[in-house]
Amino acid sequence: MADSRCLADLADNLACRSRLGLTKVAGSRGEMEQLMEAVMPTAPTPRLSSLAQVRQWMGECSRCSLSQGRNKIVFGSGPEDARIMFIGEGPGEQEDRQGLPFVGPAGKLLDAMLAAVGLRREQVYIANIVKCRPPHNRDPQADEVAACRPFLEAQVKVIAPQAICTLGRPAAQSLLASDAPMGRLRGRWSLALGVPVLPTYHPAYLLRTPEAKALAYADLKALVKGPTT
Ligand code: URA
Repeated sequence: MADSRCLADLADNLACRSRLGLTKVAGSRGEMEQLMEAVMPTAPTPRLSSLAQVRQWMGECSRCSLSQGRNKIVFGSGPEDARIMFIGEGPGEQEDRQGLPFVGPAGKLLDAMLAAVGLRREQVYIANIVKCRPPHNRDPQADEVAACRPFLEAQVKVIAPQAICTLGRPAAQSLLASDAPMGRLRGRWSLALGVPVLPTYHPAYLLRTPEAKALAYADLKALVKGPTT
């Protein structure tokens, strides 16, 4: 059973790489970075040692079309030395207005989920894979995620969290370069950007699907415990 799951994950990962135009499996982090640069040419990432520097580097960003419809960039919030980082998909209406992540109804549920496992929002860092609101809250598109990726990576590098929890399918699939469905991704540790990653359901999904809350609770308990392997 575990073997067939591994094979299915491997197949998803290879299919995803092939869509990106990658023709070989990277054997090292440096090789992976070279391959990513080949498919997503960007200016080289400067060496940044604080979130303030990352925010400054981002500036009044217009690298993708999401900038045209946004009110505020939602960079992220939380302490620079947070042990746990949460990554959602992108700002909604309230977040776009306030410039802060997860402040709408999904954010209220996220706060309650954090409290249920003994965490407070002030202890964790919260960001999104895209920092500007997608129109009508649609999923972020690949080019938008790619344009924002260097900033997310720079945030992860500065914070160096002990664990990342992705919220929802777009964040999990994007960070893990996987096409696997949430049912297969959630609750299972992987590694991305050198950090253990545990995907769980998005709080907005849980508002619509309360019966999935128990699984999300189990995921957050596992998150707080940390990776076991
Ligand atoms: N949903 C997200 O994915 N991110 C937010 O910041 C708010 C809602």
